[in-house]
Amino acid sequence: MNNPKEIESILFDQSQIKKRVKEIARQIDVDFQGEEVMLVGVLKGAFIFLADLSREIKISTRLDFIKVSSYGKQKQSSGKPSITKDLDMEIKGKNVVVVEDIVDSGLSLNVILENIKKHKPKRLKVCVLLDKREKRKTLVPLDYIGFEVPDKFLVGYGLDFADKYRNLPYVAALKA
Ligand code: PRP
Repeated sequence: MNNPKEIESILFDQSQIKKRVKEIARQIDVDFQGEEVMLVGVLKGAFIFLADLSREIKISTRLDFIKVSSYGKQKQSSGKPSITKDLDMEIKGKNVVVVEDIVDSGLSLNVILENIKKHKPKRLKVCVLLDKREKRKTLVPLDYIGFEVPDKFLVGYGLDFADKYRNLPYVAALKA
């Protein structure tokens, strides 16, 4: 695929991402050795990371999805995100790993974790590919982190700009 004109630079290419995804999968295998884990992907952005990560994990897994409302980040709205698609599966007493593409303010993940905890999982861990740490507004516990990223508008590997560019095989910064 040709790089779109709006792309400023590639932060992580396919081979860097693949290597890191494998490393995270190995960590999850070790942490939940001999057990089963429910991978909960956060729609829509996590769909590619989840697809690749789940195929690298060797222990037994099940999949589910959750979605939170966007809350107008561009306008710096202080509104709290809400769950717009809840889990389909029962997670009480199960090991759960929430899989996110990026954590920015942390507000989305915070709401997701609050919601999941109500269902009383056995263990709950959080796996994010990209950690935009400097933008954090609320403390969220991250157990597996792919890469720390700068405060730039990022696209590709699931991340979008107006729903475009999710299918780029790399993570890139858009021109300002
Ligand atoms: C993105 C991303 C996270 C959230 C992170 O989702 O996938 O869910 O924003 O931002 P926060 O830490 O400031 O809450 P978005 O709302 O853009 O939806 P999408 O995944 O469908 O692209």
